[in-house]
Amino acid sequence: MNFIFLGPPGAGKGTLAKEVAVAYAIPHISTGDIFRENIKNGTELGKKAKAIIDAGGLVSDEITIGLVKDRLSKDDTKNGYILDGFPRTIPQAEALATFAKIDAAVNFDIEDNAVVERLGGRICCKDCGQMYHVVNNKPKTEGKCDKCGGELYTRDDDKPESIKHRLEVYRESTAPLIDFYKGKGNLVDIDAKGSPDKVLEEFKKKFPKN
Ligand code: AP5
Ligand code: MG
Repeated sequence: MNFIFLGPPGAGKGTLAKEVAVAYAIPHISTGDIFRENIKNGTELGKKAKAIIDAGGLVSDEITIGLVKDRLSKDDTKNGYILDGFPRTIPQAEALATFAKIDAAVNFDIEDNAVVERLGGRICCKDCGQMYHVVNNKPKTEGKCDKCGGELYTRDDDKPESIKHRLEVYRESTAPLIDFYKGKGNLVDIDAKGSPDKVLEEFKKKFPKN
């Protein structure tokens, strides 16, 4: 199946997507991860995107749509994929409909205070991108990734001012996508408030594997 993961920053989209990608053997395509990889490698795209991302704004629709269109043309997407963090605007959703068929837009249901708490404590692996939380999802060894041993860091856009701005941008530009996909008949709500295991369990119930 072709999934969109839709929801506010810090809702747990990336955390669930990593689990679903393994369980359903489909690629996890995160536009945020692609931008961060470009920033790390110092590419032209990374240079253009860095200041926007750090401040919590959105990279232009034109750049983001081109990037996703190119990624979805790769062979590994033929049996399904998860789009995490795309689309984020109505023009992105309209463009996506011209080159992809989406089976379900999974809407992460969670309140603002919970996402602020999750983002405020998030630490990520510099090497593989795995997410942890200083209180509710600690690594086994402090400062080290359980999966690859990489160093853990705090994302530049997880500072309080940037979190606040991302939530405003979400409300203004991304939340309208809930009605967009409701109108298409493929919006599926998921309760994102529980533990990562609970959220995965609910996902598996809603989307049983064939
Ligand atoms: P992106 O990387 O997509 O960031 P985001 O939407 O702000 O979302 P996050 O990654 O912050 O949150 P998440 O929902 O993945 O939560 P996570 O699983 O990490 O985008 C970054 C930037 O790139 C954007 O701001 C924008 O500038 C640009 N960009 C990206 N896509 C774009 C687009 N389409 N158009 C334009 N610009 C674009 O979890 C968060 C924390 O909570 C972690 O600490 C985790 O351990 C913890 N946690 C997760 N699940 C649970 C749980 N169930 N219970 C308890 N804790 C949990
Ligand atoms: Mg994410």
